[in-house]
Amino acid sequence: MTDKNRETMNKKSDQEDDMTLTNRQGHPVTNNQNIRTVGNRGPATLENYDFIEKISHFDRERIPERVVHARGAGAHGYFEAYGRAGDEPVSKYTRAKLFQEKGKRTPVFVRFSTVIHGGHSPETLRDPRGFAVKFYTEDGNWDLVGNNLKIFFIRDAIKFPDMIHAFKPDPVTNIQDSERFFDFCANSPESFHMVTLVYSPWGIPANYRQMQGSGVNTYKWVNSDGEAVLVKYHWEPKQGIKNLTQKEAEEIQAKNFNHATQDLYDAIERGDYPEWELFVQIMSDDEHPELDFDPLDDTKIWPKDQFPWLPVGRMVLNKNPEDYFNEVEQVTFGTGVLVDGLDFSDDKMLQGRTFSYSDTQRYRVGPNYLQLPINAPKKRVATNQAGGQMQYKVDRASGQNPHINYEPSILGGLKEAEQPGKEYTPKIEGNLVRESIDRNDNTKQAGETYRAFEDWEKDELITNLVNDISKCDPRIQEKMIALAEEADEEYGRRLREGIKNASKEGSSMHPLGNKGGEEAPEMAEEK
Ligand code: HEM
Repeated sequence: MTDKNRETMNKKSDQEDDMTLTNRQGHPVTNNQNIRTVGNRGPATLENYDFIEKISHFDRERIPERVVHARGAGAHGYFEAYGRAGDEPVSKYTRAKLFQEKGKRTPVFVRFSTVIHGGHSPETLRDPRGFAVKFYTEDGNWDLVGNNLKIFFIRDAIKFPDMIHAFKPDPVTNIQDSERFFDFCANSPESFHMVTLVYSPWGIPANYRQMQGSGVNTYKWVNSDGEAVLVKYHWEPKQGIKNLTQKEAEEIQAKNFNHATQDLYDAIERGDYPEWELFVQIMSDDEHPELDFDPLDDTKIWPKDQFPWLPVGRMVLNKNPEDYFNEVEQVTFGTGVLVDGLDFSDDKMLQGRTFSYSDTQRYRVGPNYLQLPINAPKKRVATNQAGGQMQYKVDRASGQNPHINYEPSILGGLKEAEQPGKEYTPKIEGNLVRESIDRNDNTKQAGETYRAFEDWEKDELITNLVNDISKCDPRIQEKMIALAEEADEEYGRRLREGIKNASKEGSSMHPLGNKGGEEAPEMAEEK
């Protein structure tokens, strides 16, 4: 417990005169040390209400953890708008109210996370980091559910469950296995750019305060004329960016596997409030045939020189959660949670995500998850949705006739809102198909990223990849080397040499031995 926490607790106990323990029925608990028994040696009796309530509630203390991003830390704060997007008034692009007025503040709750391992796993692991922001706007909630890195492993939502299965521990051994990871990645070449980032020091941010954030998927902004543009979001930390080498991460992990949560909590407790600036990149709303990538492909970065980063506001985190479970565990973010002036694009990942988040949250937290204080908007809610497990209030308008829980009605029920601006009505045409997008160069940007790394980052990348790929089936090794060669001649050469040397040293045995599959060809000779 920190000194500050102890101080607050002492203050509270002085202030509050009645500290009597009760059960949840409000009954005072007179004996919290002994269950009721027949004689002091037992047996216990079943009418022991206090005990049964206490133990059965304890038995249900956990809810299912998030299927991904289970390990996280959160904080409250605010977003402050600049009223502009770079040199232009922001209203040129979006009518979303939270951005319009310079200095306008909107409360936020942010949850940072790692992705693959469980709720108490080390925060030093090589993994993307989640960066999810809930804006409690005057028009209701907006969730920007992003990661630290700007791209993703896959571009089609149907591959997500396979990807996560491959990255999570083996279903038999319950051990994460780099062979399964690279088996998926080698056979999903669109992942190569993301693999290049995740295996570099950018795959282990030093902590949550010193990392970037990105919406990753392409969204739209809609202005008051009903015109849309494509938009990408990026968070830039005012604290600077810091990443770790594998060795640095291991040293931290040996002493503290909660270091990122602790870093965030301690900084906020001492008043050193972390801050990020929000930037957007904007493109006109079309297919952009002039580009060598599709603007809806989330495995691609929009080059900064062609699509400049326009600052639109800043975010400050200045309050720690009061209760981890209530706030950090039960918070629910989703890509479908948008406000007027913000819209989806046809990005296929985004569309798949938008179903998945609220679907899992109805299971993870319950059908009334939006009534919990951390998830409810900080504005009036009036719906005709009712019932379900754990409903504890009716979302009724104050003047609403309580008998009228349907719409339309002339008997005092809820009415539809007015359309806040000209509606954006894109025309969509085409055959229903199951096809990948056309422009799917998987390695060009990975090569650019490799060349942009500093020398120590390149060294780390190669060492980390060699360590894990050299333990894989030779067919997987060959496919990964081929992708690196396609990306950059030096990258490919270093990876091939590294894997060859590791094989000579005998470190290339897979720990689980031969797991079957097609017959392995000989490792290709060095070019
Ligand atoms: C969490 C699905 C891609 C960022 C989750 C959760 C699911 C999910 C089911 C758990 C949510 C919960 O229990 O509340 C998917 C699917 C994806 C996908 C189906 C692809 C089709 C992405 C991408 C990003 C991302 C591309 C980055 C932009 C996050 C974050 C969380 C999360 C940050 C944690 C939110 C929190 O802190 O509560 N995702 N995801 N996901 N996802 Fe995704």
